[in-house]
Amino acid sequence: MTIRLDPWGHFAIEEYDKLFKQFGIEPIDKAIPLLPKKHYFFDRKIVFGHRDFDKWLQALRNGEKVAVLTGFMPSGHTHLGHLMVIEELRFLQELGAHVKIVIADAEAYAVRKLSREETIEYGIEYITHAIAWGLDPEKTEFYFQTAQKTEYYRLIQMFSRKVSMAEMEAIYGDISPGKIIASLTQAADILHLQLPEYGGYKYVLVPVGADQDPHLRLSRDIADRFHTELGLNRPASFYHKFIRGLDGNKMSSSKPDYAIFLLDKPDIIKKKVMMALTGGRATAEEQRRYGGIPEKCTVYELYMYFLYKDDQKLYKLYKECVEGKILCGEDKRIAAKLLVEMLTEHQRRYKEIMEEGIVQKIVKIPAF
Ligand code: TRP
Repeated sequence: MTIRLDPWGHFAIEEYDKLFKQFGIEPIDKAIPLLPKKHYFFDRKIVFGHRDFDKWLQALRNGEKVAVLTGFMPSGHTHLGHLMVIEELRFLQELGAHVKIVIADAEAYAVRKLSREETIEYGIEYITHAIAWGLDPEKTEFYFQTAQKTEYYRLIQMFSRKVSMAEMEAIYGDISPGKIIASLTQAADILHLQLPEYGGYKYVLVPVGADQDPHLRLSRDIADRFHTELGLNRPASFYHKFIRGLDGNKMSSSKPDYAIFLLDKPDIIKKKVMMALTGGRATAEEQRRYGGIPEKCTVYELYMYFLYKDDQKLYKLYKECVEGKILCGEDKRIAAKLLVEMLTEHQRRYKEIMEEGIVQKIVKIPAF
C-alpha cells in the first residue's frame, strides 16, 4: 500500500518503516553515533528517521555555523506533542546550534480558518512554553509569519516561479490556493536563514513530525533550483513519532479529553490519565496471568516520552508489565503523580515568564 503524507490531514502511520522505502527517509541509527551528546529520544527511536542529519552533525562537529528551524501552527493550546519538539530544540541549542522558531499564523489562518486574534494568542502561548521549558530567550529567535520583512515575502514569490502545479499535486494531492501559499511560505521559513540578511546559515536542520516531510521534499527541490541564483543548499531534517493521545490516536487539541495540555491542572491530569487506554487485560486475574501489552498502552508512552528518562527504570516497568507484576491502576497513579510534578514546575516558570512580559519584549507581535 502506498501512503501519502498529508500535512493538514489526520495522520495515521501504523508502520513508520514504510516511510524509509517510499520516500527515502533514512533510518536514524547511523546518525546517532555522530551526536556529541546522548538524548533518549534518539536511543529510543522516538526520533526514527532523517534526511542529511548526519551531514548537519558533521558540520556542527567541524565548528561550522549551524542552525535549527521549526514551526508551530497556532491552532490550539500547547500539549505534550508540541513539548516533544520544544525538548528537541532545547537539546539542539545545548549542542551549540542557533535556534529559530516560526509561529505559522498565516498557515493557521488559511487552513484552519481561525481568527487572527486566536492565532496570535496561541502563538504567544507556544513561545512562552518554549522559554519556560528551557530555551534561552536571549539566544532563540521567534517570529510570526505575518510579521516578517519584505525579503522573506519576496522568497515566496520567487519560489512560485519554479514549481509547477503537477509537482504540487504529486507532493500534496488535491491542493487549494491557500495550501499552495502555505507550502511556499513554509519553504521560505525553512530556507530564509541561508540568506545573508538572515544570518547566512548554510546548514539548517528542521526537526518535525513525519507528516511534515512533504514540505521538506518541496523545500529541498526548491533549494536545488535556487542554488545558483540565491546560493541555497538543501535543508536537513529529522522526524519523530507522534505521541498518542490517551485514546490511542494522534494527540490533538481538537480532542481535548485525550490530550495532556501543558496548562492542565492536577485534578484534570489525574482524571485524564486514569481514563487512558492501556494494554491491560479485562480482569486483574487475567492481567496477573498473561501480563499487559505496553506497546498498546498510552500510559507506557507517557513514561517512554517524558516520565522515565532512565532506561533502566523504563525497562523495569516494561518487564513488570509484561510479567503481570504491575497492574494498570497502580501504573496510572504513578504516571499521573509524575506528570503532575513535571507540569506543576513547568507552569510555575510559565507564569513567571508571562509576568515578566518576556515574549512581548523579544518577539514582534503582529498587528491585528
Ligand atoms: N506546518 C507546520 C505545522 O503544521 C508549521 C510550520 C510552518 C513549520 N513553517 C514551518 C514547521 C517550518 C517546520 C518548519 O505545524
